[in-house]
Amino acid sequence: MNMASRQAWLGVRLFDGAMQHEEPMAVLVEGDTIRQVVQAQDLSEAALEGYEIVARQGVMTPGLIDCHTHVVYGGNRAAEFEARLEGADYKEIARRGGGILSTVRQTRAASEEELFAAALPRLRALMAEGVTTIEIKSGYGLDLETELKLLRVARRVAEELPIRVSPTLLGAHALPPEYAGRSDDYIALVCEEMIPAAAEARLADAVDVFCESIAFSVAQCERVFEAAARHGLAIKGHTEQLSNLGGSAMAARHGALSVDHIEYLDEAGVAAMAASGTVATLLPGAFYFLRETQRPPIALLRQYGVPMAVATDVNPGTSPLSSILLMMNMACTLFQLTPTEALRGITANAARALGLGERLGTIAPGMQADLCLWDVEQPAELAYAFGPARLRQRVLAGEMRDAA
Ligand code: NIG
Ligand code: FE
Repeated sequence: MNMASRQAWLGVRLFDGAMQHEEPMAVLVEGDTIRQVVQAQDLSEAALEGYEIVARQGVMTPGLIDCHTHVVYGGNRAAEFEARLEGADYKEIARRGGGILSTVRQTRAASEEELFAAALPRLRALMAEGVTTIEIKSGYGLDLETELKLLRVARRVAEELPIRVSPTLLGAHALPPEYAGRSDDYIALVCEEMIPAAAEARLADAVDVFCESIAFSVAQCERVFEAAARHGLAIKGHTEQLSNLGGSAMAARHGALSVDHIEYLDEAGVAAMAASGTVATLLPGAFYFLRETQRPPIALLRQYGVPMAVATDVNPGTSPLSSILLMMNMACTLFQLTPTEALRGITANAARALGLGERLGTIAPGMQADLCLWDVEQPAELAYAFGPARLRQRVLAGEMRDAA
């Protein structure tokens, strides 16, 4: 006999990951799986036999997915923030050994316990807003030991908190000082030691790179992607954030799940992404926090039908902003996404950016029962207003799980 719990949400206003339903809907869940999604008026009494009715109103969305974060790191960069406000430039700070490398120093010095404790309030803030799946990157270790340390903290997050974690190795984030002048040697370390070790220990699902003048060239990132493929790991990239090097097109040719930031992406890059099904992950928090003016090519992405995701990019340097709902608002105000596009960006398209679109991000029969129920009248309000808590229920794999 199947003892899985049966729960029903009746009369909800549904945004299912792709679209908003006009009629009140019913969502039936058995155990950790969505069983039925039908118009409430079409549901017979008999179909509800054995179901606990959990709610009879509210707006329902898939559990939210933050598909790009660096949430685990040591220290902070408030002093760099102050320096930038006085005119210092992000790239210049990086070239002088600050920026990412200052977080690397603080991260190497921190224990796993300290890194976990530091990430906890950021993770709680995201969960309290309805995030049920988060991607977590390494990238502030830049040596084998510390990169694996960061990935172990990501694994601990998955084990101890009510949230799914998709871990990503970002060894090619910046050149560590001990490799100054020897960036090809560092890339060899990433390809020959970090990727095999992370794959072997099953600590990463994907491999990311930072393709930029202050980080690594297109050719170097390509080597990293080839190594990832040899070890069965998916790939993605920080590309075209500060300049147009062509990293997005190269990543797309290698079948990248997503390319992220992409403020400087050109039409050839967009076309390559459309051909490969690569998701465009927009990071409006980093755009805002760096006071950028070059906006991602939204009209071209729409024209070519490239799916757009939206994420926090939580990190100490360019987006110390632990709020997926704020990102949705910024995606609309700064990049002119519609609220529906922004919602797709943190549900179905975010799942796709993680290679998890078959299981997560959509409310449909057979999908995982990760759900949010909101105290609003229509889904667009989630993008429109920001501040008051509006999450009523957060459901992970069919269970009510508050932000612990
Ligand atoms: O996504 N672009 C590169 N990496 C991060 C920022 C890293 C940092 O400044 O600490 C980003 O913006
Ligand atoms: Fe990032």
